[in-house]
Parts: sequence; structure tokens; C-alpha cells
Amino acid sequence: MFDDLHPVVSTYDNFDSVLVPEGHVSRSRNDTYYVTEDRVLRCHTSAHQLSLLKQGEKKFLVAGDVYRRDSIDATHFPVFHQMEGVRVFAKSELSSTELTPQDFVSQELKIMLEGLAKHLFGEVELRWVDAYFPFTDPSYELEIFFNGEWLEVLGCGVMQKQILNEASLVDEEAWAFGLGLERLAMVLFDIPDIRLFWTNDERFSKQFKAGMFRSGGHNMQKFKSYSKYPPCYKDVSFWLPDGSKFTENNLCEIVRSTAGNLVEEVKLIDEFHNPKTNQVSNCYRITYRSMDRSLTDEEINTLQDDVRETLVTSLGVTLR
Ligand code: DAH
Repeated sequence: MFDDLHPVVSTYDNFDSVLVPEGHVSRSRNDTYYVTEDRVLRCHTSAHQLSLLKQGEKKFLVAGDVYRRDSIDATHFPVFHQMEGVRVFAKSELSSTELTPQDFVSQELKIMLEGLAKHLFGEVELRWVDAYFPFTDPSYELEIFFNGEWLEVLGCGVMQKQILNEASLVDEEAWAFGLGLERLAMVLFDIPDIRLFWTNDERFSKQFKAGMFRSGGHNMQKFKSYSKYPPCYKDVSFWLPDGSKFTENNLCEIVRSTAGNLVEEVKLIDEFHNPKTNQVSNCYRITYRSMDRSLTDEEINTLQDDVRETLVTSLGVTLR
């Protein structure tokens, strides 16, 4: 188990080593935080797969913080935690079955992860969805039914041969998975908002103790939600600049850097195209809410004014 690998990694480790193609969206500065031209805050723990395989590891877990520029809502935060698992199968293990190596490894993977889900959640509604990841084939996502929606909790698959070969494993096969730890905890404890993991409010932290899962399993107590402070909604409408580089992630980054954890959601509520001028207008609703205290009108107005101004200076929009 590796849980202290540094979160700043090379673009080679984050992308190339796991076969993310040139030009893939995740490589863009819109989706990933670049530290320098060729170093990034890792966007997934998969960044460590190849180097650990090269060190001869055959069965390992990597847990750590990962970073993504993303939209803002109750299940997304720019830093969260993942756990990666990899298991290599030797030639001898693969030849003891009638199945093709891929089918055998796929089957082993699904059995193991369904066992994990059952161990964590007891009886829970889950489904496998076919997926695409550059580093696995076939690839799947596991979704769990939570709060009236299917929530993706992990991605997994049979590791691409090319990665194994790069680590001089030519006769072997492997499975790999990467799961989102906050999301699992949200389902497990009924935690309604990912920002709660970052609050200092004791009404949150006092409800959790190290080791409590081991003793309670899935029967343990759910999070007792305390009454939320009231939200404050602010809409902002603007014309996109010509040949716009505007993206929702950039907007969210501005809101986040101005309002920090006081922002709960950023949502496009209206889009309008003026056929005469060929201009596009967007209206976004920003929901402000603190997890720990009431907000004043004054402070929200100041934040909103800052957001509006930065939208103009950084993204070149025209406010309406
Ligand atoms: N790295 C993927 C993500 O962050 C998750 C993942 C998918 C990890 C498939 C894996 C895998 O190891 O095999 O979304």
C-alpha cells in the first residue's frame, strides 16, 4: 500500500505512461492543473501504475489526493482522494482456466469489486457500465444507486498489454481499478455534500472516528445531518466574446478562487443565441452557502462583484 507518493508528477507519468493519447481532453489546461510545462498535479492515482510495476510490484494499492479542474456541485471538488488497485496474474495462473486470459482477468476483477462493494455497503443496488479508459481494455465503471441517482464510484478494467510490456511483463495479464474515496464515503455515511470533508465544524468531525468502519461495517451509523445554513443564489448573465475561449471550468475556477468553499453549485440556467448578431449569452446561477455559518448579504455581494469583475478581465465576457 502506497499512500505517500508525491502528488506533483510528470506529464509522462500522468498521461503517457497510461497511454492517454496526445490531444485527449484530460491533457488540456482546462481540465488539469499544470505546475510547469511538463509537471502536473496528478489527476488520478493511475499516474503511479507503470513506475510501481517497473519496480516489480505485482499487487498494490495507491491512495492519494488527486486534482481536477471541474464543474461545481455537491459531488465535485477540485481535490479529492482516489485509491488505485493493481493485480498482476502470472502465466501459470492464466493457464489454469478454460477462459481467455482477458475474460478470466475481467471475471476475477468483477468478482473482487462486487465483493468489496458488498463488504462496504451490504446489500446495495449496483450496476456495471461499459466504459472507455485508454489504459484498460475492456473497461468498466461501477455505479451505485444513491440519493435517487446512479453515482459512478470507480473505473476499472483489464490493463493494456502495452503498459505491462513497458514494465517487461510479457506473459502476464493484470487488472486495475481506481475508486473515488469521498464518493464511497458519501454513499456509506449518507454525506450530502463533498465540501463537508473540508469543514472544521465539529458537528461533522465528531461523528467520525478512526477505525469505526472496522467495528461497525455497513451497519454503522449514518451521518446525522445538522440543519444547513440558508443558501444565497446569485445569477450572472453575459455575452461570450467572439471566437470564445470561455469554458465552464474556467468560470468555476474563478468562482472557486474568489469564494473558496462558500460556493456550493455553479449551474448554467439559460443559454441564448441572438441570430442577428450571432452572439451567445449564458446565464449561470451561483449558489453560495457555508457549511459552518450564516453568510451576510454584504459578504456575498462583495464576492459576486469580484466574480463579475474577474469574468470580464480574465475571460473577456461582456456582462449584461
Ligand atoms: N484513472 C481513472 C479515473 O480517474 C480511474 C481508473 C479507471 C483507474 C480504470 C484504473 C482503471 O486503474 O483501470 O477516472
